[in-house]
Amino acid sequence: MFSKTPVVYAVGTDYKIFFRVSRSAYARLKVGDAVFDDAVCGNMRSAPGMRHITVPQALLDKAGGYTLCLERVRERKPYWTQTLGAEERFYPFFPVAKAGTVRACMLGDAHGDARRAIDAAAAFGAFDFLILNGDLAESVRVQSFALTHNLAARLTGGSLPVVYARGNHENRGAAAELLEQYLPNRDGCTYYTFRLGGVWGIVLDCGEDKNDDHPEYGGSARFHAFRRAETDYLRRVVADAKTEFDAPGVTWRLAVVHTPFPCAQEPEFDIERELFRQWCDLLGRMRVDAIFSAHEHRFAVLRPGDPGLRLSVPCPLVIGTANNNDYNGGTGITLSPDGINVRFVTSNETTFPVQQLLSMEAPL
Ligand SMILES: [Fe+2]
Repeated sequence: MFSKTPVVYAVGTDYKIFFRVSRSAYARLKVGDAVFDDAVCGNMRSAPGMRHITVPQALLDKAGGYTLCLERVRERKPYWTQTLGAEERFYPFFPVAKAGTVRACMLGDAHGDARRAIDAAAAFGAFDFLILNGDLAESVRVQSFALTHNLAARLTGGSLPVVYARGNHENRGAAAELLEQYLPNRDGCTYYTFRLGGVWGIVLDCGEDKNDDHPEYGGSARFHAFRRAETDYLRRVVADAKTEFDAPGVTWRLAVVHTPFPCAQEPEFDIERELFRQWCDLLGRMRVDAIFSAHEHRFAVLRPGDPGLRLSVPCPLVIGTANNNDYNGGTGITLSPDGINVRFVTSNETTFPVQQLLSMEAPL
């Protein structure tokens, strides 16, 4: 069952707010004086299920909260549909600061076990935004997406922004093709940039981890074409520097991608070398400060030149979501004017030292 608590995802310069409607109802969000209806081509949606409404980030950041309004529909009819009154609930919202210190918690590779992911997040403590970096659950049925929604709802209460990156395991199962109705995307694409205060970021999606013709996929995979379209998008981002990574107020530039594609791989997984080489080059042109990955169920920081890399990276690459018999682990990320630090955190109190990823020069 999907939680009733909304989740506020960062996509582009908007927030996409996902929420559950349990009975037939019209939905709208009020942000300050503005009202955003959940309508499609002029028709208010009324069917029960998961819905989402997009609101401009600047508006919600300024308002400091939003009101979710659900207006019950007695029966949706061709004529004289009746409604039964509206329920409203206000959610405070805390935007990421434009300066100072920002804390982000990255989780992933829960593989169906949200409990341990929650415990790992608790080991880091309070944070300003959440990163969910894929492989939360396989997409067996649409209810499978509830784990991701509920994990985000539990950890943010609908009051903090969330960045979502799809993992390869979200491509497994009959509901994989329905993911866009339940999790954030940009016009149907699971790769996009985002902006949160002084943080600019890009979410990449490698798709599956083996070639499309691998028998495991049973003919369902078309990720080569998907990655080629994504490469074109990355080039457009580079061309749009002034509205993206060079926009006013950007202090930190992050890439979030489930699969650590620059890493050395076993032959079966050693795919797309030339295309991924272009991605590394394009991330360098975006002057990305750090790449945050998951997928390999281990903790590691690989800096440029590391022998564990098959491709040249422009910045440190963090593999930051462990999953083993003892614990699930994530990464606590601290962005400050001095630089970027990471601390790997676990569900069983196993501790790791803080590592400095990047030292920034003090501003003049
Ligand atoms: Fe994975």
